[in-house]
Amino acid sequence: MSGRLDGKVVLLTGAASGIGAATTELMLGEGARVVATDVDVARGEALVARLSAQAPGRIVFLRLDVAQEAQWEAALAQAAARFAPIDVLVNNAGVAPALVPLAQTTLDEWRRVMSINLDGAFLGVKHAIRAMTGRGGAIVNVSSVAGLVGMPLNGAYSPAKAGVLLLTKCAALECAQMDPPIRVNAVHPGYIRTDMVGAISDTLGAERFERRVRKTVPLKRLGDAQDIAEAIVFLASSQSKFTTGSSLVVDGGWTAQ
Ligand SMILES: NC(=O)c1ccc[n+]([C@@H]2O[C@H](COP(=O)([O-])OP(=O)(O)OC[C@H]3O[C@@H](n4cnc5c(N)ncnc54)[C@H](O)[C@@H]3O)[C@@H](O)[C@H]2O)c1
Repeated sequence: MSGRLDGKVVLLTGAASGIGAATTELMLGEGARVVATDVDVARGEALVARLSAQAPGRIVFLRLDVAQEAQWEAALAQAAARFAPIDVLVNNAGVAPALVPLAQTTLDEWRRVMSINLDGAFLGVKHAIRAMTGRGGAIVNVSSVAGLVGMPLNGAYSPAKAGVLLLTKCAALECAQMDPPIRVNAVHPGYIRTDMVGAISDTLGAERFERRVRKTVPLKRLGDAQDIAEAIVFLASSQSKFTTGSSLVVDGGWTAQ
């Protein structure tokens, strides 16, 4: 299928790597004009250079640290000047800290994880609503299975991702009243093969991590970034036009148990 986002202007955060990069590529294939943003400028620009060939004039890279409100305002203004006001926001940027017991988690680390994963999503939702009011649109927030169930050694990341889920529901209810409405939905990935999971595997050791995946995930494998990109495109497109405030779990069955 292609053309599901024809002419739409999309801003993605954390676009330089993993799920963000796969979603950027899929959205270009669906006809979108994409503002790819990240704090990693070198990787972001390399991605845009690679994808520009297949979508000339339809992709641009901007540096955006999602925890900085002034940078959101600047990025949305630049997106509007370059293409048009955004129709879709994908709040994807996130960090997963090292697996650490709560008793050893510093307040600085807690605040770092909250500021990128939850403040960043809040700022994106806030400014996207402003940009979309009167025109409608779709916001997709990338949470995690860790936002649905508690996990040991994830005492900062899990609460941040649970916050993203309730932010999604509150925003969806506010925005359903609008004419036209802005839809707001969340995606909850399980273990997905990206740098983030590579870091967990490095910490636990590859063999132990492999055993954990086979034991935890009914489909007995890691997901691919493409699996999450497909879910995000569905929620961003009119295929999901009656869906708002929902949680799309893409986890190989992990949280069905
Ligand atoms: N990989 C998984 O298994 C998994 C599982 C559940 C949820 N997630 C979530 O999916 C999203 C994407 O993760 P990924 O696996 O692709 O990880 P990744 O590490 O490959 O990509 C994350 C991107 O976010 C960017 N980033 C970090 N801090 C930022 C900031 N302050 N502002 C803007 N960009 C910033 C990084 O530079 C990087 O490009 C994250 O929100 C993550 O929590 C991932």
